[in-house]
Amino acid sequence: MYANDISSSKLGIALNNAKIYHAEQRISFINKDFLVLDKSKDFDNLIDIVFISLPWGGINYSKELIYNLDQIVPNFRETLRKALLLANNVVLFLPRNTDLRQLETIISSYDSLYSNSKECFVTIEALIKSNTNISALVVYIGPLFKVLKYYKHIA
Ligand SMILES: C[S@@+](CC[C@H](N)C(=O)[O-])C[C@H]1O[C@@H](n2cnc3c(N)ncnc32)[C@H](O)[C@@H]1O
Repeated sequence: MYANDISSSKLGIALNNAKIYHAEQRISFINKDFLVLDKSKDFDNLIDIVFISLPWGGINYSKELIYNLDQIVPNFRETLRKALLLANNVVLFLPRNTDLRQLETIISSYDSLYSNSKECFVTIEALIKSNTNISALVVYIGPLFKVLKYYKHIA
């Protein structure tokens, strides 16, 4: 497993958390800009899934009716493109008010990058707080999530 962050202090926090769970030996920490990661140089193994939790720009995101993904830094489109070049399966942790039409357009624009160009499985899961408010969205993209989509369908 790899953990990446451009901030060395954030990566230090991640290392500390990993130690609490005795998982630090199983994680390689990469202190680099995600956008410049190199599939062959930065990783010893093939990557199954990339999980991305981008900065949403502080708490103000929740004041907007619809969250425009283009306000994310680093650039959301570039980050997703990079993730799809690194792995066949990508999971995105996004604001609950994400512009879903924009998200669909962006995901569709990368059709050629999907491992199985005929089918791309996308599942959107809403994380619900105990008071039934949606707290965030988790977006699963890739062939691995065909099963998840099916599970959701019959549930
Ligand atoms: C919302 S926090 C997520 C922190 C942690 N990874 C998690 O999942 O809880 C977003 C993180 O993205 C990092 N970040 C911002 N730009 C980045 C980039 N270009 N490459 C790698 N990490 C970046 C920030 O330093 C910050 O720690």
